Amino acid sequence: MADKTIIITGGAGFIGSHVVRRFVNQYPDYQIINLDKLTYAGNLANLKDIENKPNYRFIKADITNSQQMLDIFTQEQPDGIIHLAAESHVDRSISSPLEFVLTNVVGTVNLLNAARATWKDNYDNHRFYHVSTDEVYGALGKEGMFTEQTAYDPHSPYSASKASSDHFVRAYHDTYGLNTVISNCSNNYGSHHFPEKLIPLAIHNIQHQKPVPIYGKGENIRDWLFVEDHARAIDLIYHQAASGSTYNIGGHNEWTNIDLIRLLCKIMDEKLNRTPGSSAQLITFVTDRAGHDLRYAIDADKLEKDLGWKPSLRLEEGLEKTVDWYLSNQDWLNNVTSGDYQKYYEQQYSGR
Ligand SMILES: NC(=O)c1ccc[n+]([C@@H]2O[C@H](COP(=O)([O-])OP(=O)(O)OC[C@H]3O[C@@H](n4cnc5c(N)ncnc54)[C@H](O)[C@@H]3O)[C@@H](O)[C@H]2O)c1
Repeated sequence: MADKTIIITGGAGFIGSHVVRRFVNQYPDYQIINLDKLTYAGNLANLKDIENKPNYRFIKADITNSQQMLDIFTQEQPDGIIHLAAESHVDRSISSPLEFVLTNVVGTVNLLNAARATWKDNYDNHRFYHVSTDEVYGALGKEGMFTEQTAYDPHSPYSASKASSDHFVRAYHDTYGLNTVISNCSNNYGSHHFPEKLIPLAIHNIQHQKPVPIYGKGENIRDWLFVEDHARAIDLIYHQAASGSTYNIGGHNEWTNIDLIRLLCKIMDEKLNRTPGSSAQLITFVTDRAGHDLRYAIDADKLEKDLGWKPSLRLEEGLEKTVDWYLSNQDWLNNVTSGDYQKYYEQQYSGR
C-alpha cells in the first residue's frame, strides 16, 4: 500500500475516533492526522489505544478558521481528507443554530477552499470525503426508504446545515472538478458515544437508576448502525468510490425509540443482575422535540451492490457489545459526565 497522508477532521468525536482507529490500525504506511478543535464533544481519551502509534498525529485546530486550514494543508500536503468535524446534536442546533452554520457550513467550505488551493494541479489523485447524515432527506411516513436520489428536505437547523454542506461539496465537484465523495448515514451507536445522545444517556441513567427521558411517546423510528460498520463503510468508500458519487449507509435495523429503550432495559437488567422489568420502570416520557421527524429509513443497496458492504451486526448484538463497553469503561464515562455535559443536561431535561 503506497504511503499517503490523510487528514481526518473530528477524529476526537464519536464516529471520527472509530474512523481514525480503523485507518491507523489498517494502514500502517499511511500518516493519519486527526484535526479536531476539541469542543465539548471531542475527547482524546477516545484514542488512548492508538495515540502512540508512529502513523498517528493530532492537530488541535478549528475548521472555521480559513487561514489555519490553508496553512495546515500547505504544511501537510495531504493526499486526502475525511471530513467528520461538525456540530452534531439536533437539540443543540435548536438552541444555537448559528454555531451549526459556522461549523458545518462555513467550516466545510473552508476545507474545500484549502483543498482546492493545495491540490489545484492534480485533483484526480486527491480525495475529499464528506461524511453526512440521512437527516438531510427529511422524514418518511410509515412506508418507503431514502435512496441516493431522494430530494433533500431538512427540518432541523442541524440537518439544514448538513444539507447545505453537502450541496457545497457537490458544487465544488461540479464547478472545479474536485474529487469528492459524500456518504449519508443513519443513526450510529457503539462505544465512545457522548452521553447526551439517546443510547449512552439511557445506559448511564439506567445504571444509576435515574429517569430515562424519551421524547413524545417514543414512536419515532430510526435506523441504527453499529459505529464500527460505519467506519468500515467509510474505508471502502474512501478507497473505491468514483469521484462525485454519493452513498447511503444504513443498518437495516429500524426500531421505534421506545422498543429500542425497552430492549436496552432488558439487556441492562441481565448485565446488572436486576429483577427483570425493573429498569423499564425508569422510562419517563418528556415533551417532544420541536420538528421531530417521525421516521428515517435508509436504502443502502447501492453500497452493497457497488462495493460489497453489508452491516455485520443486528441491533440486539451491537447493543449488547455497547452495554458491555460502557459498563467496563466507567472512567471514560465519569470523565465525560462532568462539566459542560452536566449543565447541558440540567438545561435540557429539568422541570419536565
Ligand atoms: N452520530 C450519528 O449518528 C451520525 C450519523 C450520520 C452522520 N453523522 C455525521 O458524522 C460526523 C461525526 O458525528 P459524531 O456523532 O461523531 O459527532 P461528535 O459530535 O461526536 O464529534 C464531532 C467532532 O468534531 C469536532 N469539532 C466540532 N467543531 C469543530 C471545529 N470547528 N473544528 C474542528 N473540530 C470540530 C468536535 O471536537 C468533535 O470531536 C458528523 O459530521 C455528523 O454529522 C453522525
